[in-house]
Amino acid sequence: MMAWTDRHCRYLLRLCARRPLLFTEMIPTGALLNGPSEKLLAYHPAEHPLAIQLGGSDPAALAAAARLAEKRGFDEINLNVGCPSPRVNQGRFGACLMLEPTLVANLITAIRSAVGTRVSVKCRLGVDGDDSQDLLEHFIGTVADGGCDRFYVHARKALLGGISPAQNRRIPPLEYQRVYQLKTHFPELTIILNGGIDSLESAVDQLPHVDGIMIGRQAYRNPLFMNSISQHLYGDERLDALTVMHGYQDYMETELSNGGRLHDMTRHCLGLFSGMPGARHYRRLLSDNRRLKGNDLAVVDEALSCVRHMTKAA
Ligand SMILES: Cc1cc2nc3c(=O)[nH]c(=O)nc-3n(C[C@H](O)[C@H](O)[C@H](O)COP(=O)(O)O)c2cc1C
Repeated sequence: MMAWTDRHCRYLLRLCARRPLLFTEMIPTGALLNGPSEKLLAYHPAEHPLAIQLGGSDPAALAAAARLAEKRGFDEINLNVGCPSPRVNQGRFGACLMLEPTLVANLITAIRSAVGTRVSVKCRLGVDGDDSQDLLEHFIGTVADGGCDRFYVHARKALLGGISPAQNRRIPPLEYQRVYQLKTHFPELTIILNGGIDSLESAVDQLPHVDGIMIGRQAYRNPLFMNSISQHLYGDERLDALTVMHGYQDYMETELSNGGRLHDMTRHCLGLFSGMPGARHYRRLLSDNRRLKGNDLAVVDEALSCVRHMTKAA
């Protein structure tokens, strides 16, 4: 998720759950090929399994970007065909590509000819009025013919006329049944459902119908949500926020010694103690730019002292 799932955020999420596939923010091919590629491709080895998400619509550029990603060791290359941002769509990538299934198929073929890494697509149910199940099946079928067998489907359509990306994650209704129907129609494809999963119950409800679930906002707001899902699905051990935070403190210490900035890291762990007594004070301290500017971990200790005794008691 753009501006959210940077490498610090992903490290924190990995501390909460060791199995789920994590995703980078969407990286446009232009930024990767003409910009600071080393920085954009940077990640910690602990983040594996890790998918890189690319945005673009030029086959040669996507093939070149995919080669860089493969060299850097990503476990999956995902093509974004779901972003409704006007800026992205003006660049002819993101959700508007759902209207060009043949082009997307060609993009997938170009990536697959360039690399051996697993390739996938993230899309929506449709775009504006072009959102029938027939069109969706035509899109998925065409892209599958291009060589993609793994789809993450955000279970709502994109509205490209005039609403913001945030509204586009709220206003078009969720239509889970349509994703289930896709799985029935294409049993040989891996179909992963995304959108609105914010409780253990809503996660578990999806699993009989599809091959997997993808979680966005709730994982960011409450990183320990990933741990509760891992406990339920895999019997992983229950972690408390303090244990996770101790791991993140070690990470922050190393990052600070390499020139990292404290604020870049603390902004991702604000939700870790959500709902617990002292959480407000903890959040306030860890968002205080004046204090964070010193890059001194003492402020993290102070924030933790607001919640520590409560966590131990829990
Ligand atoms: C701040 C933010 C940034 C996002 N950036 C991306 C992105 O870069 N690529 C992408 O495929 N989806 C992006 N999304 C959409 C999410 O991946 C997801 O599809 C959407 O939020 C619905 O899932 P959820 O209800 O679990 O959050 C973003 C969402 C948010 C809130």
